[in-house]
Amino acid sequence: MKNRRILLVSRPEGAPTEANFRLEETEMARPADGQFLVRNHWLSLDPYMRGRMDAAKSYAKYVELGEVMTGGAVGEVIESRHPGFKAGEFVNGAFGWQDYALADGTGVRKVDGSKAPLSYYLGVLGMPGVTAWMGLLDIAQPKPGETVVVSAASGAVGSVVGQIAKIKGCRAVGIAGGAEKCRYVTGELGLDACVDHRAGRLDADLQAAAPKGIDVVFENVGGPVLDAALRLMNPFGRITICGLISQYNATESHGMRNFRSVLTNRLRVQGFIVNDRMELWPRALADLGQWVADGKIKYRESVAHGLENAPRAFLGMLRGENFGKQVVKLT
Ligand SMILES: NC(=O)c1ccc[n+]([C@@H]2O[C@H](COP(=O)([O-])OP(=O)(O)OC[C@H]3O[C@@H](n4cnc5c(N)ncnc54)[C@H](OP(=O)(O)O)[C@@H]3O)[C@@H](O)[C@H]2O)c1
Repeated sequence: MKNRRILLVSRPEGAPTEANFRLEETEMARPADGQFLVRNHWLSLDPYMRGRMDAAKSYAKYVELGEVMTGGAVGEVIESRHPGFKAGEFVNGAFGWQDYALADGTGVRKVDGSKAPLSYYLGVLGMPGVTAWMGLLDIAQPKPGETVVVSAASGAVGSVVGQIAKIKGCRAVGIAGGAEKCRYVTGELGLDACVDHRAGRLDADLQAAAPKGIDVVFENVGGPVLDAALRLMNPFGRITICGLISQYNATESHGMRNFRSVLTNRLRVQGFIVNDRMELWPRALADLGQWVADGKIKYRESVAHGLENAPRAFLGMLRGENFGKQVVKLT
C-alpha cells in the first residue's frame, strides 16, 4: 500500500516557500501489535507549524529535516491491532501531513461525525476552539460590560474568542485584515466593531472602536497591533498572549512600543499554550459543542483540496489569505 507524505527538506530564512517542502510516495507499513492505521480525511494547517520549521528552542520539539511535517488530522481507522480502537471509528490526532498514519493511541481522541462535520474537530471543536476558551475565560476572565479586543478576529481562534466575549456580555472589538473580513466579523459573528489593520489608521480606528478603553486583549498577532492596544489599556487590564503571528517570519525582533502601559495601568500579561492545561479541555469542549449546536457560535473554513496543495495553503494562511479555519481535504 502506498502513502503520500510531505517532508520538511530545508529551513526557511524569513518567510517559508514551497521549496522547504517535498512530497514523496512511500510504502505504508501495516500496524504492529498495539497500533492502528488511519486514513486521514482532513488535515489542519496552523500557525504554530511555522515555528516547528526552525531548529530553535521552543515549547515543543521542531521538525527534523527529512521528517514528515507535524500536524493534527481527522481520519478513519481502517485497520487496528489496538484494543481501544476499531476499524470504522473516526479519530483526531497528530497524524502529520500525510494520507495515512500509524498511531498507538497516544493523544488520539475519538470524534463523532454525526454531531458535527469532521473538520470541525480541527477547529471550533478542537485545539483552536479550546485555545479561545482557555485564553479568554481561564486567563483573561472578562466581566460583563468590559471591552475585549481580539486580533486575527476572523480566524480559527479569534472568531471563537470574539463570539465567546459576546456570550459573556462584553463589548467585543475585532482586528482583522481587510474590509471583507471586518464585515464578516461584525455582520456574521456579531462583534460590536472591527478595525482593519491594513487600512493604515490603526491607532485612531482602535480608539474609536473602544471609546471606554480596553480591559482585555486576546493577542494573536503582536507587533504594531499589540502596540496600538497597549496605548488604550484601562487600569488592571489583562493581556493574553496567545500568538504573535506577525513575528513568526521576522528575522529581527519587533521593538515593542507603549510597554510603559503595563506599569502605569498595572496590567497582567500572560502567555499560554493550550496543552498546558489538559484538564480544562473537557469543560471547554462541552461549552463549545453546546454553543455551536445552539447557533451561538458561527464557524467558517477555508478548504484546500489534496495533500499536494497543503504547502501552498499553509504559506497563504501565514499571509492572511485564509478566511476562517484553514484545513485541507484529503479524501
Ligand atoms: N497559545 C496557543 O496554545 C495557541 C494555539 C492555537 C493558535 N495559537 C495562535 O493563535 C493565533 C491565531 O491562530 P489561528 O490558527 O486562529 O490562525 P488564523 O487566525 O486562522 O490565521 C492566521 C491569521 O493571522 C493573521 N495575520 C497573519 N500575518 C499577520 C500580520 N503580519 N499582522 C496581522 N495579522 C496577521 C491573518 O489574518 P488577517 O487577514 O485578519 O490579518 C491570518 O488569516 C496564531 O498566532 C497562533 O500561533 C496559539
